[in-house]
Amino acid sequence: MNASANAAAAEHAPPDRVVIFDTTLRDGEQSPGFTMSSAQKIAFAHALAELGVDVIEAGFPNSSPADFGAVQAIAREVRGAAIAGLARCHAGDIEACARSLHDAANPRIHVFISTSPLHREHKLSMSKQQVIERAVMGVELARRHVDDVEFSAEDAFRTEREFLVEVFEAAIAAGARTVNVPDTVGYATPEEIRELFRFLRSNVKGADAVVFSAHCHNDLGLAVANSLAAIEGGARQVECTINGIGERAGNAALEELVMAMKVRRGWYAADTRIDTPKLLDTSRLLSRITGIQVQRNKAIVGLNAFAHESGIHQHGMLKNRDTYEIMRPQDVGWPDSQLVLGRHSGRAAVADRLRALGHVLDDAQLDRVIADAKALTQTQHVIGDADLLQLVEGERFGP
Ligand code: KIV
Ligand code: ZN
Repeated sequence: MNASANAAAAEHAPPDRVVIFDTTLRDGEQSPGFTMSSAQKIAFAHALAELGVDVIEAGFPNSSPADFGAVQAIAREVRGAAIAGLARCHAGDIEACARSLHDAANPRIHVFISTSPLHREHKLSMSKQQVIERAVMGVELARRHVDDVEFSAEDAFRTEREFLVEVFEAAIAAGARTVNVPDTVGYATPEEIRELFRFLRSNVKGADAVVFSAHCHNDLGLAVANSLAAIEGGARQVECTINGIGERAGNAALEELVMAMKVRRGWYAADTRIDTPKLLDTSRLLSRITGIQVQRNKAIVGLNAFAHESGIHQHGMLKNRDTYEIMRPQDVGWPDSQLVLGRHSGRAAVADRLRALGHVLDDAQLDRVIADAKALTQTQHVIGDADLLQLVEGERFGP
């Protein structure tokens, strides 16, 4: 096959599936301001299953009786996604996790231990050998309870590469099916993480038999970019949260990751099972539950994500929406884009909105309504339909 035939074949090859592992109810919920009741967690887990996530990390069962109860209830009730519980490589954690997941249709135990020199010395006071032994103990014990075991090397990104290879090989030999590479403190750059995944995939024995997973934190605002780079490096699971909530600056935002893969499908050659028109409702459900709104300019789900105010953009949008939109608002759950009438809006948008409201004005009338609307923007940011209608009435019938 020549180069262009190869490229064409690659373009038409079925895209790889990327497993979406949602940790809103564990990494997300454990951050300040995002605590949820059991009932709220159950409702949210149902929404995640409907959204189409593959794995729901429902909590850390041995961390509190409340967490145990929530994971148990989710394991009993929620179908359509694997249900995971987090456990340190401690027998007590793993046994509690297994009990809480007993009634799940597809249970996963997610065991972790820190591997970086900083964590080994200051947090665990353990040697490399002890860390490996504990990791193997954790994976083996978890495998006695369930088939689906994930192993995470906490602070993997700051761990010596050779040691990381040793730990993952030991975990895979002990029975882990997914190995997770967390950038626990959000320190990586996309280039580094892409390269790390390529290195691990070609140096870890048994790599082909397991799924490599990325778990990126957002301390430098790079969590989504790093997760996408990890996919380029061969990761086939990404761990993420709705609205990007999570420890400190948060985790990779699920809605951004999924839409980047969808919109740039040719680039990533990877796909997910997410029913993207449900993204907005899921984001809003989380905001209602936690009482914390996303910022207006948040990608995908922020109020401004599909709002256009400048006259030049509105004019372009009215001619061809591709001028200023790379995806359709309906693809992520918005009813439509909004041409917001504000200080920067132009004639075309005002005329278009008025037409939609049933008023076709001649040029002179339109000029006067626009002048009045601009005057109004001195005292208010946005001109709503009611304001416009009032201006048209004034124009038609006088003050
Ligand atoms: O950030 C992290 O390292 C974690 C692990 C427990 C996966 O959340
Ligand atoms: Zn984390």
